[in-house]
Amino acid sequence: MRLVLLGPPGAGKGTQASALAARFGVPHVSTGDILRENVSGGTELGREAQAFMDRGDLVPDDLVNRMVADRLAHADAAAGFLLDGYPRTVPQALVLEELLAGREEPLDGVLRFVVDLSELLQRLSARREIEGRADDSEEAVRRRFEEYRAKTRPLEDFYAERGLVREVDAVGAVEEVTERAIAAVDGHHGADLQGRATGRGRSDVT
Ligand code: AP5
Repeated sequence: MRLVLLGPPGAGKGTQASALAARFGVPHVSTGDILRENVSGGTELGREAQAFMDRGDLVPDDLVNRMVADRLAHADAAAGFLLDGYPRTVPQALVLEELLAGREEPLDGVLRFVVDLSELLQRLSARREIEGRADDSEEAVRRRFEEYRAKTRPLEDFYAERGLVREVDAVGAVEEVTERAIAAVDGHHGADLQGRATGRGRSDVT
């Protein structure tokens, strides 16, 4: 199972990726987590990435692409993976496509988590109070949404053109959302985005 999880900040990609990875028996590969581990470990990669992350900017593509290529070369990713937070730009998606073409392992699907903006902001402000993640400050959150709109949102069309996108209503109890995501992967429910407007979601972060 090779899946990409797509959605704006706070959509629940990380939360759902953990549950889905356990369910499908594949590793959860989160570029945000790998970058944060490098920042807290004081590695060179972490030092390069930290200022971008703290501001809410995306880290440069070449750095993230190398990091993901290294991670997907690990033995545990041979049978599949869940990519959480990558790709995040069209150039990253093209690099991933080429990497997977070289392995003859195309993506099985892209789950797009749909949550309205007020719910996203509520989740991130709740986490700001509890965890104090550096990029959950109001200013960094604003910047993360700007980056999402400008650079990540075009991936919705990129993957829809390839027939890969499955939309998941990501509001509700975590377990319910997990069940919807599994159903979308299985192809039973989950609206296919191609050419179909669901009336919800395209305006979530505009
Ligand atoms: P990253 O860590 O990927 O941040 P993000 O995409 O902004 O995502 P979040 O972690 O905020 O949200 P999420 O969708 O994972 O939701 P979560 O499950 O956490 O990236 C951080 C930074 O790293 C980027 O800004 C960038 O600088 C850099 N970076 C990473 N990848 C990069 C890339 N590919 N290219 C360049 N730079 C990159 O949930 C959010 C909150 O909501 C949690 O508190 C959770 O408990 C809660 N929650 C989850 N589900 C529910 C629910 N159903 N109901 C209520 N609350 C819920």
